[in-house]
Amino acid sequence: MKKYNIAIIGATGLVGSTFIKVMQEYNIEVNNLYLYASSNSEGKIINYLGKDYMVHDLANAIFNNVDFALFSAGASISKEYAPKFRDQGAIVIDNSSYWRMDDNCPLIVPEINFNDFKGNNNLIANPNCSTIQSVLPLYYLDKEFNIKRVTYTTYQAVAGSGMKGINDLKNTKEGKPSSFYPYDISKTCIPEIDSFLENHYTKEEIKMVNETKKILHKDIPIAATCIRVPVETSHGVVIQAEFEKEVNIDSALNALYNQAGIKVIDDIKNHGYPVSTIATGNDFVYVGRMRKDLSCDNGLIFYTVADNVRKGAASNAVQIMLKIMKDME
Ligand SMILES: NC(=O)c1ccc[n+]([C@@H]2O[C@H](COP(=O)([O-])OP(=O)(O)OC[C@H]3O[C@@H](n4cnc5c(N)ncnc54)[C@H](OP(=O)(O)O)[C@@H]3O)[C@@H](O)[C@H]2O)c1
Repeated sequence: MKKYNIAIIGATGLVGSTFIKVMQEYNIEVNNLYLYASSNSEGKIINYLGKDYMVHDLANAIFNNVDFALFSAGASISKEYAPKFRDQGAIVIDNSSYWRMDDNCPLIVPEINFNDFKGNNNLIANPNCSTIQSVLPLYYLDKEFNIKRVTYTTYQAVAGSGMKGINDLKNTKEGKPSSFYPYDISKTCIPEIDSFLENHYTKEEIKMVNETKKILHKDIPIAATCIRVPVETSHGVVIQAEFEKEVNIDSALNALYNQAGIKVIDDIKNHGYPVSTIATGNDFVYVGRMRKDLSCDNGLIFYTVADNVRKGAASNAVQIMLKIMKDME
């Protein structure tokens, strides 16, 4: 494959360092690699495929001569800098929430709606981590049974808050006081992710609602409850979905077996179901605990688990970039 000039913005963070890891696993050779973070990281050295690269302060970045810019430095940085890279010719893939609901920015899960990238805006948004692992099984089920309504309940790992979340879990486990979450995350689940809105939902919950509709191109009723749990990596999501067509456990699982990006684990006699320790470190969305929803006619309840830093963030973005590179060959 042709070698490109790639910039990583937020290269020292949890998602940024996972971009670098995943790109090496996918053996993406680069022409130039530009690594940016805050001024605190100026001069740090990061190795990529055997060569050392220095991290620079984003404030001194040059924006030209970049083919792909992968952003994971927070919404305000994406707001300010993503257009600067894009306007100088880069294709930007942004992991923050800032551009996701912008009508001009495609919001992409590559297995589902890569065609939403028309190549004319060049600023692509990567969905929220919990959204990605929810919409992928829903997309395959929707094709067979036509979704009418969805309710999500998430069990989100502390890695979803970046290094601050991981450090707070580690410190509170060692008996130190909480410095990031409002309660001791080592001892309790916390039903508050991102800030509260007027309607008493959190921003994270409304992100899941709006992003699901945008990715699936469906304006259906959706509600979500998002909960932080004392797990380091890999989110779980319980999905209750109602369909137009008749559905049962076997037909639902058959619609999911062998689909791109999905692994079904549903062997309840042998404790076979998705758990975080299975998902962490790889790029699949695991699906299991498939049941009929007893509260309606054509409903299902099931559980998905995925590595929120990989398929929920870095790997999804790298997969988008790889698809574009292949299209450009
Ligand atoms: N964690 C997840 O599972 C996940 C999933 C999906 C999306 N995201 C999104 O990805 C983004 C990063 O999340 P994360 O979990 O990787 O956070 P993180 O571990 O806290 O990393 C933040 C990164 O941003 C850099 N940064 C901070 N302020 C900066 C500035 N003024 N200029 C340039 N760089 C700056 C940091 O550099 P320094 O090291 O120099 O401070 C670091 O590289 C967020 O928008 C988050 O919402 C995260």
